[in-house]
Amino acid sequence: MAAGSDSTAPEASEQGRAPVAMEKLVSLCAARGFIFASSEIYGGINGFWDYGPLGVELKNNLKALWWQRMVRERSDVVGVDASIVAHPRTWEASGHVDNFSDPMVDCRICKKRFRADQLDDIGPCSAQKGKAECDFTEPRNFNLMLQTQIGASADASQTAYLRPETCQSLFTDFKRVRESARQKIPFGIAQIGKAFRNEITPRNFTFRSREFEQAEMEFFCHPSEREKWFEYWRAERLQFHLDIGLSPDRIQNRPHDDDELAHYAKAAVDVDFHFPFDWQEIEGVHDRGDWDLSRHTEYSGKDLSITDEQTKEKFTPMVIETSMGVDRTCLALLCDALDEETLEDGESRTVMRFHPRIAPVKVAVLPLSKKIGEAAREIDATLRKHWNVFYDEAGNIGRRYRRQDEIGTPFCVTYDFESEDDKKVTVRERDTMNQDRVPIEGLVDYLRDRLEGDS
Ligand code: GAP
Repeated sequence: MAAGSDSTAPEASEQGRAPVAMEKLVSLCAARGFIFASSEIYGGINGFWDYGPLGVELKNNLKALWWQRMVRERSDVVGVDASIVAHPRTWEASGHVDNFSDPMVDCRICKKRFRADQLDDIGPCSAQKGKAECDFTEPRNFNLMLQTQIGASADASQTAYLRPETCQSLFTDFKRVRESARQKIPFGIAQIGKAFRNEITPRNFTFRSREFEQAEMEFFCHPSEREKWFEYWRAERLQFHLDIGLSPDRIQNRPHDDDELAHYAKAAVDVDFHFPFDWQEIEGVHDRGDWDLSRHTEYSGKDLSITDEQTKEKFTPMVIETSMGVDRTCLALLCDALDEETLEDGESRTVMRFHPRIAPVKVAVLPLSKKIGEAAREIDATLRKHWNVFYDEAGNIGRRYRRQDEIGTPFCVTYDFESEDDKKVTVRERDTMNQDRVPIEGLVDYLRDRLEGDS
């Protein structure tokens, strides 16, 4: 083989690999620039995270796939991008002002605040040097909405909320969108955007954050069709998570028991992922009935019911909601992809086994020597027109391959001294480490087949 090859083939198969520890993932994410603490130089701020150059590509890939599948490929779903701050009455109507709270307790000794339903997980009281447990107050309800003030002068200012879920504008915009986009039920409105919750105990890396993104879709249908559409969207959303590459044995649907249902929900099923810390929800599919449209009709005084043109029947549509946490799904993708592999020679390598659709960098271009960098730069420029490409000419080729394995780059293209004569490059595949000699002329097609093919 002309380009530097890997020392040995992998020993362990990809199947049945063990979950990797969260600490390893968190430090790799920071070191490689996927995700790290917000305002890190000031010590971070609990519950807030920044996505670095690789993280933003990963997240954008996920959002683009969701948008493609939920909006672009369908004639019955349209998209919007609504404001984060809505009229405060919105949150009275939605029930968030009265109901969106967690029970909270304070410790009288260390003054820390905890969720009353998570006390089993906490350690000894920090003010007692591990000698005693905390001394808790009685539980009180703590509203999770983040508040802000609008208006320049104190007199004119008005309390408003940063939205705790992205979907409410899909209900308040329902009439405008239906009429302007000339949609008839059944149809859906979709949105991706930031949501904010003043979580009492943010934890598990980005899993429970105070600022996060949701990708939500509200599907409006006739009351007689709600069960049919609930089942349709349950299955469709589970399939999406398989299609982005999550391992089938690490995702499942979990229906909610009646006593778990949110105040608006008639039925709900979660898509749960097997994180290293537990099975936990990454997406919810909810039958919200006519709760939201009826409440907004009541609070705004604007009639949000519709009339069937043929039968003249007047009714308020029922709503099936799909609500994916973008950050939680990114975290699931990272946990699922991270693998430690022992090679035949006993060495180990860290590999992020992202599906090519999700991988932040699709191809790395690696000239064998800086001396032939100019020709490699031309290949890099050609590939950049199609994909996110990483160019690296520093250091030993084996180490450069390992760096790409660690960030999940599916293909490395190596330009070597023979490339000058035979006009071919070596393409090395991440998972198998197999190498192929490919004509430069056909390189884009070769990579496109493998990166964008059906599998
Ligand atoms: N509109 C319905 C709704 O917001 P939810 O179950 O509260 O329902 C939907 O949230 C999704 O949003 C969850 O499945 C989760 O992926 C994500 N999510 C909720 N709270 C979150 C938090 N504090 N941090 C990160 N993601 C969160």
